[in-house]
Amino acid sequence: MIPRRRIDIGWADLADLLVGGGDNPLAAAAQVRAFENQAAALLGGLWVRATASGRDALDLILDGLGLGAGDELVVPAYTLGELIVRLQGRGLRPVAADVDVDSFAVTPQSVARAISPRTRAVVALHVFGAPCDIRGIAAVAAQHGLPLIEDCAHAFGARIDGRPAGSFGSAALFSLEVAKPVATFGGGLLVTADRELQAAAAAHLDRRPYSPWPAARKTLMKCLEECAVRSPAYGLAARMMFREQKAGGFERFYRGLHDRVRPADVAFSCFQARRGLRRLAGLAQRNRQLNQLWTDLAAALPPGFTVQARARCGEPAAYNFVARHAGDLLRLRRRAQALGLDLAIHGEVLDDVAPLLGQTDCPGAAQVFAQAVAIPLHLGIDAARLRRMAEILAAVSRP
Ligand SMILES: Cc1ncc(COP(=O)(O)O)c(C=O)c1O
Repeated sequence: MIPRRRIDIGWADLADLLVGGGDNPLAAAAQVRAFENQAAALLGGLWVRATASGRDALDLILDGLGLGAGDELVVPAYTLGELIVRLQGRGLRPVAADVDVDSFAVTPQSVARAISPRTRAVVALHVFGAPCDIRGIAAVAAQHGLPLIEDCAHAFGARIDGRPAGSFGSAALFSLEVAKPVATFGGGLLVTADRELQAAAAAHLDRRPYSPWPAARKTLMKCLEECAVRSPAYGLAARMMFREQKAGGFERFYRGLHDRVRPADVAFSCFQARRGLRRLAGLAQRNRQLNQLWTDLAAALPPGFTVQARARCGEPAAYNFVARHAGDLLRLRRRAQALGLDLAIHGEVLDDVAPLLGQTDCPGAAQVFAQAVAIPLHLGIDAARLRRMAEILAAVSRP
C-alpha cells in the first residue's frame, strides 16, 4: 500500500533522541533560542517564539490581542474543525468566510462579506501551503481596523512576491506537527512584529515548566506508527480504519490521540530545537523536491480530477496534494485501497466548518469538502510509485 502519510524520522533523529544529551532547562534555553533565531532569519527577521503547538500559538495571539468572550472572529470556512471547537471553548464567536473552489482559500471579497460591526480579528489560512491573496485580505482587514492573523500551519517556506508567508499580518502561527514542512514532533511558532503581543506571549512562555518527555514520548510513538505503516499489514489496516461512510471519523480519532500525547503547556525541548534546526536547514530543498513531485503528479492525473490552484498568489510550501473529484469518493477510495493506494477524502483531508457554525452561506467550502481527495505526496514517493499511482487513479476513476 502506498500510504497517505510518511513520518520523517531519520537515524540522526533517533541517535539524537537516545544520546543527544544536554536536555535540561539551561541547555534548552540556548538551543531553543538558536532554533527561534534561525526560523526568524527565514521569516524576514520577525520576532519568533517556539510554542507547544500551532493551536497554542493561536491562543497566545488571541490573548495578546485581547480577544475575549463574545468577540467575533472571521475564520476560513475550509479549515481544521478542531480550531473552531477551541475558539468556541474560549467564548469567541467564529464566523466563516467562504473559500474559492479552485484555490480552496478565503478571498478578500469573502472576508469582507463576513466582517460585521462585532468582528474583532480576521484569520486567513494558506491552505495546504498555497499562499492565499494575503495582500488583498490584509487591505480589507486594515480598512476595518482589524488585526489579521495569518494561519501558516501548512505554509513554512511559502513566499509571496519574495516575502515569506507569516510576515503580512499582525501575527502568524505555524504548526511544527509531524507531517508539516518543519516537523519537530509537536510544537508551533508564534511570529509577530507587535511589541505588546511579544511581551504578553513571552511572559506566558517564560513561565512554562521544562520537560523533555512529552516530545520524546511522541517521537517514539511516531516511530512505532511509521514501522506499522511500512509493514505489509498496513494495507489491510488502512482498509479497516478508513472505510466508514462518514469519512473523517478515524482521522479525528487519530488527531485526538495526537492531542493526548502532544506536548502542551511545557516549554519547547532541546531535542525539538535540534531537530527543528536540522529541518530548517533542509526546508528549501524539501519544498523544491515536493513541489516538483506535486507538478509531476498533477501532470499524471487522469481526467476527472481538478487540482488545487496553488500558485496564483505566490510560491507554495509543500504540504499535501489535494484535488477535487466530482464522483463517488467512497467508491473511489475503496477501489484505490484494493489496488494499493491510500487516498484520503472529505473530513480526512480538512473540514467544512460552516455547518458547525450554523451557516449555510459557504457553498464553496461545502463543494471543496464534498469533492476533496488527498493523494499521497511525501518523500516516500519515487518515480516508479508516481507512475503506479497514476495507473491506479486512471483505473479507479473509470465509471
Ligand atoms: C489549518 C490549521 N491551522 C492550525 C493547525 C494547528 O496546528 P497544531 O496541530 O500544531 O496545533 C492545524 C493543524 O494541522 C491546521 O491544519
